Amino acid sequence: MKDAIVIAIDGPSASGKGTCGRYLAGKLGFRHVDTGAMYRTFTWHCLQAGIDIGQAPQVVEFLRRWPAELVTTSDEVRLEVGGKSAAGEIRSDEVSNTVARISPIAAVRIWMVRTQRECLRFGSVVMDGRDIGTHVFPETPFKFFLTASDEVRAKRRKAEGSGENTAERDRRDSTRKVAPLEPARDAVVIDNSHESPAVTAEFMLAHVEAKRRQLGL
Ligand code: CDP
Repeated sequence: MKDAIVIAIDGPSASGKGTCGRYLAGKLGFRHVDTGAMYRTFTWHCLQAGIDIGQAPQVVEFLRRWPAELVTTSDEVRLEVGGKSAAGEIRSDEVSNTVARISPIAAVRIWMVRTQRECLRFGSVVMDGRDIGTHVFPETPFKFFLTASDEVRAKRRKAEGSGENTAERDRRDSTRKVAPLEPARDAVVIDNSHESPAVTAEFMLAHVEAKRRQLGL
């Protein structure tokens, strides 16, 4: 869609991207896109198919024949395979512990970026991930980078019931060669260690509204 707006939100695990992203999307009437869920969905299908994750050519060959499609509801755009989104399965510790070994594979990233750009055919989006402001939509004027201290993020993960060591995943995401996790030069960086999601999200909303007025969007 020609005039679709993209709000890009990047940040490490448990930085509040999803919560704030969904809030913003709801307030603006845009659709939310959780790009981490896309990487997780592909990872889950690789595991289901018995693909050897350590063998990149096997992963890429599976990607080529993976029958995933973009599906939209009134509030989000997501990937589904055979009409199923695997929303619960993709949050398992097994997927969490594997996804950052699949996401650095260049062919996987190319496929994901292309698919994420296609989401605009459904209209304006709030998209969260690791490389949205830097690689997927570097031209959008609406970019946020959320962060919080290591201690606070570890506590949030524990409260969600996750048994995952996210430090290792964050390390892989930040040090990979292709599209590492980093703030875009023009992103608004928000450390929300001592803020509720509602306060952060309201601040982001006010920023988006002011910028839209300024740019006439
Ligand atoms: O659950 P959490 O918010 O920590 O992560 P997620 O957003 O579900 O993303 C899961 C994983 O997908 C990340 O650790 C990255 O390895 C990968 N990812 C990525 O490489 N690029 C994105 N735009 C989104 C996720």
